[in-house]
Amino acid sequence: MPDTVDIPDALIAALANARCVVIVTGAGTSAESGIPTFRDAMDGLWENHDPHQLASIEGFLSDPALVTRWYDERRVKVQRCKPNSAHHALTAMERHVEAQGRRFGLFTQNVDGLHQRAGSRRVHELHGSICTWKCTHTGRTMPVRGEAFPQYPPRSASGGIWRPAVVWFGEMLPTEPLQAAEKMLRSCDLFFSVGTSAQVYPAAALADYALQIGAPVAEINLHDTPLSARADWSLRARAGAVLPSLVAAAFGQDDSTI
Ligand code: OAD
Repeated sequence: MPDTVDIPDALIAALANARCVVIVTGAGTSAESGIPTFRDAMDGLWENHDPHQLASIEGFLSDPALVTRWYDERRVKVQRCKPNSAHHALTAMERHVEAQGRRFGLFTQNVDGLHQRAGSRRVHELHGSICTWKCTHTGRTMPVRGEAFPQYPPRSASGGIWRPAVVWFGEMLPTEPLQAAEKMLRSCDLFFSVGTSAQVYPAAALADYALQIGAPVAEINLHDTPLSARADWSLRARAGAVLPSLVAAAFGQDDSTI
């Protein structure tokens, strides 16, 4: 996959002048941090499992020990990973856009917390967080850090089970990020889709909405997606290679410092 992809001048100019930048990221943004994506053939997270067994309320209810173990093992792995140059470039982009009094919103499907660890502040987690767990009885949430739980499923003091506060198939998304996205998209004049197969709704609907209101849409993704043919720009390259160059070109910062 080429790393030195040509970034269209029109996209650079659009970013340099945008008044409201909205970004959706997916698992491909964290791939260069060593976190497997969901659907990539080689090392997809679901390569050895049926996703509906692992990422669904039915799967949890039928085998809470398997599901909580699988998520907790992912959490421990994720905590050892570090933000990559794509995350840092998006943090720099937020800083530059806001320094000029403009608006920036990052809506991630990822649950790994790497955007926040890279310093991004305007992050909305569409699918929750693997580092926050909630009690099935009380709904109380708690941050979970460090080593794995000693047993599965982890029991809460109220007699319930601690489960990851992530969105499973068949569950509703949290309202906050969707409301924030809907509000920002009304003024969006540049939309990015980064490292996502653009297949899972309602997250994938954000790009559809941007297209409907006539906002220019840029996709940065290794493979073709259902969005690719409709986007104004669709760059087949690693997010960790393109984003630092794009931010440097738009804001005149040396991309080695990103
Ligand atoms: P996918 O695994 O479906 O798609 C990841 C995309 O990232 C693929 O299209 C890859 O081509 C691309 N990719 C991989 N490495 C990349 C890189 N270095 N730079 C740029 N692109 C790269 O993951 P998502 O689209 O995030 O939902 O999946 C969406 C949702 O499906 C997930 O949030 C999850 C799953 O159901 C829940 O868990 C609720």
